[in-house]
Amino acid sequence: MAALSINNKLSKKQQLQALKVITHIGALYPLIKLYYNYYTYNLGVEEVNAAILATGYPAIVLLVLSLAITPLNTLFGWSILGPLRKPLGLYAFMYAMLHVTIFVVLDYGLDWGAFITEITTRWYAIVGFISWLIMVPLAITSTKWSQRKLGKRWKTLHRTVYLSAILGVVHYILQARNDYNLPFTFAALLAIFLVLRFDWIKSRIVAYRKERAKAKRLAAKAKA
Ligand code: HEM
Repeated sequence: MAALSINNKLSKKQQLQALKVITHIGALYPLIKLYYNYYTYNLGVEEVNAAILATGYPAIVLLVLSLAITPLNTLFGWSILGPLRKPLGLYAFMYAMLHVTIFVVLDYGLDWGAFITEITTRWYAIVGFISWLIMVPLAITSTKWSQRKLGKRWKTLHRTVYLSAILGVVHYILQARNDYNLPFTFAALLAIFLVLRFDWIKSRIVAYRKERAKAKRLAAKAKA
């Protein structure tokens, strides 16, 4: 019995390890692809614009994925995914940082005046900038030490990630010229995630799921 439970524990640990490896590979893939396309001259004529797009997209995908972890646990009880939230969020920040850096350095040639004009006069840039700005303190305080130091305030601060994601998606929608399917899919997902955060909805779903699992266990026992 003891050996079985150790085996079970080990297999959970291994599962998590595998999920972490997949997360790191998956999250780094767009960056590797970008480097590869750059060195093989496959970024097209508008290289800088291609690089901006190739970093903005993974930023929003990873941000939304990091926000999917808690709802997936609520809906399916996949608590094993919990430890993936932080790396996903940090990778999202890494891509957002690259996205903005490429924009400022390569697109605007470090012309801060023009950059400030852009992020204060054009809606897509205003919301993109605020989305990025919100991410900065979240990334800085993502350590265990900050979590301990900030106590309850840490949770409150880290809830702003939803605002960052909403603004990121609005920024995406404002960029989309004719294909709105993906940005609106992200918007719908975020709306679902937010609804699932409401305590009374969350507790009802969890209770229903536990009830079903119990009924299944009892039925299996009765069969045996
Ligand atoms: C100062 C902040 C930002 C600026 C100036 C900025 C600028 C841009 C620009 C110029 C584009 C390309 C537009 C085009 O040629 O079609 C773009 C696209 C995009 N940006 Fe940003 N961005 C900012 C922040 C962000 C942040 C924080 C995120 C994510 C959370 C983000 C996600 C995206 C996405 C998803 C796209 C569209 C990618 C695609 O169509 O595949 N951006 N952004």
